[in-house]
Amino acid sequence: MTSDTFVDEDDAAAVADPADDAESAPRREARRPHARPRVLALANQKGGVGKTTTAINLGTALAAIGEKVLVIDLDPQGNASTGLGIERKQRRVSTYHVLTGEAELRSAIRETAVPRLHLAPSTLDLLGVELEIASARNRAHRLKLAVDGLALGDALRAEPFTYVLIDCPPSLNLLTINALAASDSVLVPLQCEFFALEGLSQLLKTVEQVRDNLNPRLTIQGVVLTMFDPRNNLSNQVVADVRSFMGGKVYETMIPRNVRVSEAPSYGKPVLLYDLKCSGSQAYLRLASEIIQRERTLVAA
Ligand SMILES: Nc1ncnc2c1ncn2[C@@H]1O[C@H](COP(=O)(O)OP(=O)(O)O)[C@@H](O)[C@H]1O
Ligand SMILES: [Mg+2]
Repeated sequence: MTSDTFVDEDDAAAVADPADDAESAPRREARRPHARPRVLALANQKGGVGKTTTAINLGTALAAIGEKVLVIDLDPQGNASTGLGIERKQRRVSTYHVLTGEAELRSAIRETAVPRLHLAPSTLDLLGVELEIASARNRAHRLKLAVDGLALGDALRAEPFTYVLIDCPPSLNLLTINALAASDSVLVPLQCEFFALEGLSQLLKTVEQVRDNLNPRLTIQGVVLTMFDPRNNLSNQVVADVRSFMGGKVYETMIPRNVRVSEAPSYGKPVLLYDLKCSGSQAYLRLASEIIQRERTLVAA
């Protein structure tokens, strides 16, 4: 993948089926109902706010509801890969190779223990990627090209992914920019703690810059409050502040602080497999339905 050219959906359709030039666009569309998945970036430059936990468990909840989901691990720490039980030896092809153009996204994808949930793993190699591609003209579009290539492959072969969740690193670096450039919308996890809103305006400004310069269709899907503790006055105050600042962008569903959620990754399992009945699992299932609802509204708009 060394091409500098941007392949958009219409081009992809034409390549996928060169014989149907004469066919009307709606008919072509009908034959590939989900040629491009909805792509959501989980972003917040703060660490420890629940990006990875949400990528794993929202991904699992969406798959449980019947979506076909790909989680792309874009954090060199590889916590999403570990939390979904993908061992080191299964990470020979990783998002590093995808971003440097050495491999296609499809060849990095691994199945997980959850039916319909797949993962493109990361390794510490990703730490070096920024330097390696710094002078490439399409450096900010590497992931977008890879995701577009995936949709093109899907149109020809396998059942397509309907959702792609990108787990971003805790930084607004080139990796996060790649994620934002490849996404339809951004999902922002905010931890219910005193400094929750700190840094949010910087993130929103970055999203705006990416929209202006790289990806005009980028929107904010929503803000998800994580590690909520109803017995804690501070938690309740943070919820009130965030809701008054971000209004309807904040999901109704809040993810409670729940020890089962934090235990699950050490078993290489999403919490929904580890303990389906716990409050954390139930919250992620509700969040998944809320997100699907919101996606329908966004797509219809
Ligand atoms: N709802 C929750 N309840 C309890 N612990 C949580 C919850 N969500 C996340 N954690 C824990 O908080 C820590 C940070 O979460 P993580 O998802 O890794 O954040 P990030 O990816 O933003 O750095 C992890 O140890 C995780 O297990
Ligand atoms: Mg993380």
